[in-house]
Amino acid sequence: MVKINLKTLKIRAQKEIEKTGTPEGLNEVFNKYLGTGKGELTLVLRSLGKLSKAEKVKIGREVNDLKKILRIQFDQKEKSLKEKLHKEVEEREWIDVSAPGKKPLFGHLHPLTITGRKVEEIFQGMGFSVIEGPEMESEWYNFDALNIPKDHPARDQWDTFYLRNGLLLRTHTSPNQVRYMEKNQPPLRIIVPGTCYRHEATDASHESQLFQIEGLMVDKKISAANFKATVGEFFRRFFGKDVSFRLRPDFFPFTEPSFDISISCVVCGGKGCSACKETGWMEVAGAGMVHPNVFKNSGLNPKDWQGWAFGFGLERLTMLKYKIDDIRLFRSGDLRFLQQF
Ligand code: PHE
Repeated sequence: MVKINLKTLKIRAQKEIEKTGTPEGLNEVFNKYLGTGKGELTLVLRSLGKLSKAEKVKIGREVNDLKKILRIQFDQKEKSLKEKLHKEVEEREWIDVSAPGKKPLFGHLHPLTITGRKVEEIFQGMGFSVIEGPEMESEWYNFDALNIPKDHPARDQWDTFYLRNGLLLRTHTSPNQVRYMEKNQPPLRIIVPGTCYRHEATDASHESQLFQIEGLMVDKKISAANFKATVGEFFRRFFGKDVSFRLRPDFFPFTEPSFDISISCVVCGGKGCSACKETGWMEVAGAGMVHPNVFKNSGLNPKDWQGWAFGFGLERLTMLKYKIDDIRLFRSGDLRFLQQF
């Protein structure tokens, strides 16, 4: 009876060893047959007591031989399971160290930031301080103090966003002329860069958000000649070459006389092209000599002081510098445009 059991037991055990796919499963099979407490072969050995001595020796030897055979198979199976696991991990965690790397994307400055910083740097080099003012502005600073009373038709020139809190979004950086002169005694030289807002219908050269740079210089015996020399030097440094420019009479309530500044077209060099509407000139700023009423509204005596002021559109300057033909590109967020800078 024992003999038959041994043969079938061997076949059973070998099949089960073959079938197991995990180390834990193999351990279970091991305990089932070779376990020291309840392993089937251990039980067989224990049951030999009732047999004759010759049979004990014979069967005992057979059982021990079978144990040896099974042990060897367990060991082999364990080895192959470990190898399989190792291979799986290796495949999962394989890194191709020779694969070409991915180029990291670097951020970079917006074109308006680049030119804005350049403008600041140039004026700082000429002794101007960089000042800031509020974007929410009162009617007084934005208009009245600048010699633009409520009923003055010139207000129409600045299509204004009025706010519910009684303030407005500044339409230009000029209010800072008054704000600064109220608090500081001349002589003074400042530029005021900042965002301005106008209720405009947008097209290739107009947007409702624009970036201006105000300039103001006040001292005794300041004339339009000082102004011409200063902007001339600015253009030379900004465009990196001599640029011819001209002043033409214009009107602003807060300057007298007033001029518009045009430079010879940087696209065609003054010959006339579509960018300058065939005129050879491009308008870049409004400017003029500070109006006596603006001095008065700032608490200064116009008999003691003279000064000039200008307002550059930074978008316009940037478009000229990089030959960009549509102002809407700046705030479009289009990476094809932005990545060129
Ligand atoms: N503030 C004017 C504008 O926005 C420009 C300007 C500034 C004109 C300073 C004269 C002097 O159009």
